[in-house]
Amino acid sequence: MQDILDELERRRAGARAGGGERRIQAQHKRGKLTARERIELLLDTGSFEETDMFVEHRCTEFGMAGTGVPGDGVVTGQGTINGRLVFVFSQDFTVFGGSLSETHANKICKIMDRALEVGAPVIGINDSGGARIQEGVDSLAGYADVFMRNIVGSGVVPQISVIMGPCAGGAVYSPAMTDFIFMVRDSSYMFVTGPDVVKTVTNEEVTQEQLGGATTHTAKSGVADEAFDTDVQAVHEIRRFFDFLPLNNREKPPIRPTADVADRPDFSLDTLVPANPNKPYDMKELIHKVVDEADFFELQPDYAKNIITGFARFDGQTAGIVANQPMVLAGCLDIDSSRKAARFVRFCNAFNIPIVTFVDVPGFLPGTGQEYGGIIKHGAKLLFAYGQATVPKVTIITRKAYGGAYVVMASKHLRGDVSYAWPSAELAVMGAKGAVEIIFRGDLGDEAKIAERTEEYRQRFANPFVGAGRGFIDDVIMPHGTRKRICRSLAWLDQKQVQDPWKKHDNLPL
Ligand code: HXC
Repeated sequence: MQDILDELERRRAGARAGGGERRIQAQHKRGKLTARERIELLLDTGSFEETDMFVEHRCTEFGMAGTGVPGDGVVTGQGTINGRLVFVFSQDFTVFGGSLSETHANKICKIMDRALEVGAPVIGINDSGGARIQEGVDSLAGYADVFMRNIVGSGVVPQISVIMGPCAGGAVYSPAMTDFIFMVRDSSYMFVTGPDVVKTVTNEEVTQEQLGGATTHTAKSGVADEAFDTDVQAVHEIRRFFDFLPLNNREKPPIRPTADVADRPDFSLDTLVPANPNKPYDMKELIHKVVDEADFFELQPDYAKNIITGFARFDGQTAGIVANQPMVLAGCLDIDSSRKAARFVRFCNAFNIPIVTFVDVPGFLPGTGQEYGGIIKHGAKLLFAYGQATVPKVTIITRKAYGGAYVVMASKHLRGDVSYAWPSAELAVMGAKGAVEIIFRGDLGDEAKIAERTEEYRQRFANPFVGAGRGFIDDVIMPHGTRKRICRSLAWLDQKQVQDPWKKHDNLPL
C-alpha cells in the first residue's frame, strides 16, 4: 500500500514541478511568480482544490510524442477568497510557454462549466503564448470552446482576467470577452500578433511593451482596467476587488459591515464647488468623502479620465460609481468616456449592483475628431446603457448638467430613481453665454445687451430649481448631507423591481 501512496506523491510532485527547475528560475528572474504561487496567494490559505492535475496532452506531431507534462500547462480548480467560492485557472508559462492545447482547453472549460452550474466567478490568470502551435486546429478548437463559455457565462457569473505574462493570439481574445482585465507592469503584454509579425506586415518597429504593455492598454487602448507593479500586488488587489462583487447574477453583492455611519456629514463638501463655473475641482474628492471608509476601487483610472468609474460601498452595500471629472476636458463626454462608462453601467446592471452617478457635465465634446470617430453611436451606448439599467440608480448633480449629456447621465428621464441636485447645480441646454449667442444672435456686438441677456438666462436656468419645479429633481440637497441621502435612497430602493417587455436581446448601438 505504501508503494501506491508513494507513487501518488511522486506523480503529484511531478505535476507541481511544471516545466522544471530551470524554467521556474527563469520565471522568477523575470519577476514573475509561477502559476501555483499565484493561486496560493490569490486564494484563502489551504482552500484550493485542484482539478485535473494529471491531464497530459495527446499530441504526437512535431516531436511532441512523449513530451507530456502532468497538468499540461494550466493549473485549475476552485477555492475561496475571504470565504467566498471562486473558480480559477492559472497558466503555467514553464510548460510549453503556457500555450493552449486541446487538453489544456478542456481543463479550463471544465472549471468554467462548474462555475456556471454553481454560480461562482471565474478568475483566469493568463501567461500564455496562445494556441499550441504543434497541435494546429485542435488548439484553435480548444480556444473556441473557451470563447463559447466566456460568451455563455457573460452576465451570469463575473469573469476576471489577470494578465501576468506575454499573451498573444487566442490568449487575448478570451480575456477580451471577460468583464475585467488586470495587468502587471513590465512583465505582461497583450497583442493579437507580436512585434515580429507587425514588422513583416506593416513594417513598423515596436517593442512588446509599446505594442501591448500595461501602459498601452491602461492609457491608450482602454483594453485593460488597471495595472499593478508586481504579481504580488496584483493578486492582493484582486482579492480586494473580488469582495465588491456578487458571486452571480441571481445574487446581490455582499454586504460588508462598516463603522462608517450612514448619516456622517462632511461639511468640507459645502465649499467643494468653486464659485466660478469655469474653474475645475476634483470629483474624486467628493467620491472619497461620501463612500464607506474612503474605500474606492477605481477602474480605468488612466483611460478617458474625463469620466470616473469604479466600485465603492454605501452603508456596507456595493455600488458602482460613475462620475464626470471636471479636471479633465471639463468633464465633457466623448467617445472614449462614453464607451468606458457604458460598459461599466452594463456590468453593474447585469450583476444587481446599484449605480450612483455624480454629474458635472458641460455636454458632448464637439469637433470633427469626435464626429468622424462616431460619437453619435458611442455616446448612444451610454444613453442606452443607463436607460436599460433597472438596478437602483441614484444621481447627484453637483454643477453643470447641460444638454443631451444631462439626459444621458442617469437622469430621471432614463428611469433614474432618485435625482438630487446641489444648490450649485445648473440644468440647461447649454451654458448661459453660448445660449445667448445663439438665441439673441441679432444683439451680438451690443456688449451691454448681451451681458444683460446672459445674466437673465443664468438667473433663469443656472440653478436646480426649474428642474426641481418639474419634478426632474427630487430634492435640492446640502452638499454636506450627500452621503446620508445616498445611503437612505439605496436602502429604500433595495427591493426595487422593474419588468421590461420580453425580447431575445437588445440591439445596443455597437
Ligand atoms: C507552443 C510555445 C508557444 C506556442 C511559446 N512556446 N509559445 N510552444 N506553442 N504558441 C514555448 C517556446 O517554444 C519555449 O519553449 C517556451 O514556450 C517559452 O517561449 P520563449 O519564446 O522562449 O519565451 P519568450 O521569449 O518569453 O517569448 C514568449 C512569446 C513567444 C512572446 C509568447 O514565445 C511567442 O511569440 N510565442 C508564439 C506566439 C504566437 O504566435 N502564438 C500563436 C498565436 S495564434 P522551450 O521548450 O524553449 O521552453 C493563436 C490563435 C488563436 O493563438 C486564435 C483563436 C481564435
